[in-house]
Amino acid sequence: MSDSIRIAIAGLGTVGAGVVKILAERGDVLALAAGRAIEIMAVSARDAGKDRGIDISGFRFEKDARALGVAADVDVVVELIGGADGIAFDLVESALLNGKHVVTANKALIARHGAHLAQIAEDKNVALNFEAGVAGGIPIVKALREGLVANEISNVTGILNGTCNYILTEMEETGRDFEDVLVDAQDLGYAEADPSFDVGGIDAAHKLAILTSLAFGTKVDFAQVEIEGIEKINATDIYHAAEFGYRIKLLGIAEIVDGGILQSVQPTLVPFERPLAAVPGVYNAVAVTGNYVGDVILEGRGAGQGPTASAVVSDIVDVARGFVFPPFIIPTAKLREAKAPAKNSLKSAYYLRLYAVDRAGSMAEITRALALASVSIERIVQSGERMEAGSGRLPVVFMTHETDEATMREAMTLLAEHADVAGEPVMMRIDNSATH
Ligand code: NAP
Ligand code: HSE
Repeated sequence: MSDSIRIAIAGLGTVGAGVVKILAERGDVLALAAGRAIEIMAVSARDAGKDRGIDISGFRFEKDARALGVAADVDVVVELIGGADGIAFDLVESALLNGKHVVTANKALIARHGAHLAQIAEDKNVALNFEAGVAGGIPIVKALREGLVANEISNVTGILNGTCNYILTEMEETGRDFEDVLVDAQDLGYAEADPSFDVGGIDAAHKLAILTSLAFGTKVDFAQVEIEGIEKINATDIYHAAEFGYRIKLLGIAEIVDGGILQSVQPTLVPFERPLAAVPGVYNAVAVTGNYVGDVILEGRGAGQGPTASAVVSDIVDVARGFVFPPFIIPTAKLREAKAPAKNSLKSAYYLRLYAVDRAGSMAEITRALALASVSIERIVQSGERMEAGSGRLPVVFMTHETDEATMREAMTLLAEHADVAGEPVMMRIDNSATH
């Protein structure tokens, strides 16, 4: 067996502690798999004295994580601090410039600075691996880089945020409130440091931007992702979606549309019988359509200590084996710009929920407003039994015929200003088109 590969771990929270645990428990077997031992030389966190349930007494503790990027006795920097900028960016950039391999779980960093960092990694002939950054324990980056590389890919659709999927599942199964379930997800170590990144769709958008680049050979361009979170979804939406035969999922979709690449993250109604509708709790799933392989779906836990650390360790083993790829499959200089399609090009039916002022004629006024915006209605349910007592607000739910997003947005503006509509209406795409 050749010399050990020497690693440093920056960040000893949920994921970092998980990596230390796996290397302690499975180090011998992993050394055989990698052909060399994996040796932790140094670690860094904010608090040297915190009890993390792991033994770090044998490793050098660096108060300033930046020291790891220039340490002479380190071959691989494992960045598990988080954040697109600041210390995580400084450390990763400096480690690469100093000819060190980098493994990270930081999707925010890769979504924002992926092309820049990939170029440095290529120039220095080192690895920049980020498997854990996309869909936790699911090896989707490896699948796109290696197993599916023969294919021209036309669509990637995923449930990419464990926290959101956990919240939506718990709300449906237990009837608990949004805020209450979010606290559980934080306690279980699923949520980001700022949980608004999860529920606001930003975390899923980071992952989708990375998947788009890997699938379509484009430069990661987070600004091109249309983002909507799950904050506005309530029990009435979950109930009526189910009545209509759908489950609400936060879907990330990257797809070739009219020669452009649509990148969108939004809550979507998925028919019960589709595989993605059945993905429960903290699980993620990614469906890829390739021209030779057809549809492939990978499913597994998308967040939490074990699944995420499992992906980090697989990236470390790859480096120990001597695998060095261009991070986005093809050389960065050959990546194209991710051009968005014209806004109107994606046709879909929509779910629309609003609260009507409970008075004679209000429904006629509301449907007139929809007709004015050229939205054709397929079904209406006036949900008297779900009216909050004494509120004077009657929940009304519509399913539209196929239309486009611009038309729906215009209708939403008219409705939001309408005297017979209380509060802000909510719309969601109904995904009747896909097979997964
Ligand atoms: P976390 O539990 O909050 O841990 C963050 C760690 O970074 C802590 O150990 C913290 O130190 C350390 N840290 C913060 N600022 C630092 C600084 N200036 N210098 C040195 N260390 C610093 O976060 P996490 O959940 O493990 O997430 C880490 C990364 O993995 C993030 O990029 C996240 O997006 C990604 N990720 C997480 C999951 C998940 O399920 N949790 C899944 C996939 C990807 P102290 O402990 O001393 O405070
Ligand atoms: N906060 C993220 C999630 C962690 O809930 O999916 C995994 O990236």
